[in-house]
Amino acid sequence: MQSKKYGYSRQYIDDEDINAVIQVLKSDFLTTGPKVLEFEESIKQYLGAQYAVCVSSGTASLHIAALCLLDKDYKVLTTPISFLATSNAILYAGAKPIFVDVDAKANIDLNLCEDILKKDSTIKAIFAVDFAGNMVDPDGLLYLKEKYGIKVLEDCAHSLGATAGKNKAGDCSFCDVATLSFHPVKSITSAEGGCVVTNDEQIAKKASMFRNHGIVRDRNEFIYKDDDNPLYFEMQELGFNYRLSDVHSALGLSQLKKIDFFLTVRRKLANNYDMAFNGTPIRPLHLNSESSYHLYVIRINFKEIGKKRADIMKSLQSKGIFLQTHYIPINAQPYYQKLGYDPSLTPTAVKYYNECLSIPLYVGIEQEEQEFIIDTIKSEILF
Ligand SMILES: Cc1ncc(COP(=O)(O)O)c(C=O)c1O
Repeated sequence: MQSKKYGYSRQYIDDEDINAVIQVLKSDFLTTGPKVLEFEESIKQYLGAQYAVCVSSGTASLHIAALCLLDKDYKVLTTPISFLATSNAILYAGAKPIFVDVDAKANIDLNLCEDILKKDSTIKAIFAVDFAGNMVDPDGLLYLKEKYGIKVLEDCAHSLGATAGKNKAGDCSFCDVATLSFHPVKSITSAEGGCVVTNDEQIAKKASMFRNHGIVRDRNEFIYKDDDNPLYFEMQELGFNYRLSDVHSALGLSQLKKIDFFLTVRRKLANNYDMAFNGTPIRPLHLNSESSYHLYVIRINFKEIGKKRADIMKSLQSKGIFLQTHYIPINAQPYYQKLGYDPSLTPTAVKYYNECLSIPLYVGIEQEEQEFIIDTIKSEILF
């Protein structure tokens, strides 16, 4: 078993997925065809949201969403515990991220957000991330949105499939825009891919425009008219080619049909880990029963156990287990420090980072493989 490699996550592809992709490859449209629309329809239905605009990556969805919500120099509250893409999108729009410290679940601390909003009425938005698959409290976000008149973006790259009471990650009932990622490590994959989800028609129109070079083809929306040319179109914004192909969409569509199965397996694996680490110095990041179980993060006080994280990671690698650290606080990155950001202003995020390790959690880990992973991690850390 040792010859096999276990990363923190990976895709699960079956024959149905492969056939779905082959069908598109044999069809007339590899891109801008019917599969994209079908995938968007399925996402809307799954989430109960009104508009879904599929794009080429989660990062592209964040970029477009930022352009729809923000203007130059807007101040935006966001979390240091995320992938770089979340706050980079704020910078792409010419706006300014303000990093807020995190709570016990390593999600943005909404109480701290309110403290800041009370003092600074020029803040225009929050970009929240459902870290590891635990949703940021929807009621809390809606309260801040309504009380302070700010825009709210929910980065659902980790949380497709998660719920919180009556709310679903990405349903847009408590935010202006939600963004999804279909990278292979996520709840479902389209290889690369993402989606801008919203209940706001204007945002949906703008997002479709930005996805395709800023082009408008609807005659009713034209600024000028050119009745001589039936193929006349207008570029009204500086957009991009962020289109998702039909090949990718077919894979995503096929994967979305399996999301409940994926969630059940991930939940079961997480429960096994919970039981295995119970009563040891290995403290799991609490994943509530409504999580999408994107990551299984363990927290360890390495000083207390007298070991170095790097040594543990290297030794486990030699046994085929590749752990990850989600995430290095974004405000600690050299690029951000050069812009004047200081990670010591978010001490809980720094402490969290110093203790975290993501261990393998994905569909396809067999019971005996998980037992091997548990035994190897425990013996490395505890003995
Ligand atoms: C929280 C978060 N947001 C955004 C992204 C970007 O998604 P993508 O890799 O599809 O561009 C990621 C990717 O890991 C992520 O973890």
